[in-house]
Amino acid sequence: MEEKRLTGEKLYYTITYGCQMNESDTERINGQLEELGYKPAENMEDADIVIMNTCSVRQNAEEKVYGKIGEIKKLKEKNPHMLLGIAGCMAQENKGKLIERMPIIDFVMGPYHIHDLKDIITKETATGGHVVKTERNPHSVNDYSELHAVRKSKIFAWIPIMQGCNKFCTYCIVPYVRGREISRTIPDICGEIRQLAKEGYKEITLLGQNVNSYGLDFRNGTNFADLIRAIDEIDGIERVRYMTSHPRDMTFDMVDAMAASPKVVRHMHLPVQHGSNEMLRRMNRGYTIEHFKELLAYVREKMPDIAVTTDLITGFPGETEAMHEETLKLLEDLRFDSAYTFIYSPRTGTPAARMEDQIDDATKHRRLQELMDTENPISLALNKKMEGHTYEIIVEGPSKQDENHWYGRTSSNKMILFPHKEGIHVGDTVKAKVDLAQTWVLKGELVE
Ligand code: SAH
Ligand code: SF4
Ligand code: F3S
Repeated sequence: MEEKRLTGEKLYYTITYGCQMNESDTERINGQLEELGYKPAENMEDADIVIMNTCSVRQNAEEKVYGKIGEIKKLKEKNPHMLLGIAGCMAQENKGKLIERMPIIDFVMGPYHIHDLKDIITKETATGGHVVKTERNPHSVNDYSELHAVRKSKIFAWIPIMQGCNKFCTYCIVPYVRGREISRTIPDICGEIRQLAKEGYKEITLLGQNVNSYGLDFRNGTNFADLIRAIDEIDGIERVRYMTSHPRDMTFDMVDAMAASPKVVRHMHLPVQHGSNEMLRRMNRGYTIEHFKELLAYVREKMPDIAVTTDLITGFPGETEAMHEETLKLLEDLRFDSAYTFIYSPRTGTPAARMEDQIDDATKHRRLQELMDTENPISLALNKKMEGHTYEIIVEGPSKQDENHWYGRTSSNKMILFPHKEGIHVGDTVKAKVDLAQTWVLKGELVE
């Protein structure tokens, strides 16, 4: 470590929790660090600065961060010059209280302050003081175009199209930490995508808490369908993904734009959250199961080969056994390709946390298990239908378990593992035949 100090090389280490928006923000955080001359550290122990980009959506997301801070505390005792910064949603939510509780934290920086990072490091923490930056900044959406991102991949890129959320689902902390919806303009977004296309990127994922309300804040009629149609014109980009869709704001016109697009993938993540109208009402989701079914039927009619995934919350306050069974029945009925299931986690400050009829932990865990036991065979059955068929995939790289096996994804976002062959590189668009389908992954081989 001393040696590095002599050569003057400064190293950084960033850790990301939470959603893809945080993954994307971390890339811009890394961009700021590299502009200051920092290089990525292989191990956290070697770093001169550690930044944790945090998530507060559920209690267990926060606990992971506190655990990690404990680990860093020991490192800092050995290496007192190391700077520790907390970024992201826990920073925004807890502000200076984080430092009061854990003085080893040097700075707290909310998601609106990535553009302040250089000053925080070079000036504000230089005298050993603590820094807290969490004021709201309605212009921070411009950061996305102005701040250089150090992207993990040369093929796949995140593109934030908006910030914040206006929905205020009663369980959710996101609108409190990420503020109101602000969209980037279509020329701004397309400018970034065009540049990426020139650099050889093939697949982009448009990010927003609720992409279907993209552009509504301009109040000039702009919407997500316009954005899709504009991106369709950009040469070089093969696939356009987007997340997350919201059943309340998705219009039939948007579905038509997706169906007509040669680039928009055949995958949609459309969280339903629950199978009971009473629960949806108490969650303030703003749609009914009937509406959801009608929308999904239209999506599947226009894009018959589409894979649809969803999110479910179990154990929301007041959930009766009968309501829980409505969710199980909905899964049987709608046959999602997969469902991400979450145990309801009360978030301080949200309306649901104050509701009276909270569900006990044992019931929540049992219901979670029942959701998974219902969904997993459905996911498997849908994957089994892919056996024997050939799909176009974009190669992502070697699998973590076995470097002789590589994987790529279909347009429907299914992962196909295949034995690696010479001459196959990350980013190649190839054809793979599925031999064996499992619940979460498909095994196959490349074909001509
Ligand atoms: N904007 C996205 C969701 C972002 S959070 C949307 O509306 O679909 C991702 C998922 O976390 C949500 O879909 C929800 O299922 C889950 N979630 C959010 N808050 C939660 C909480 N307090 N407890 C449990 N799950 C929660
Ligand atoms: Fe949270 Fe609802 Fe907004 Fe999604 S739409 S981020 S669940 S408040
Ligand atoms: Fe978590 Fe913030 Fe994303 S709370 S889910 S990191 S917007």
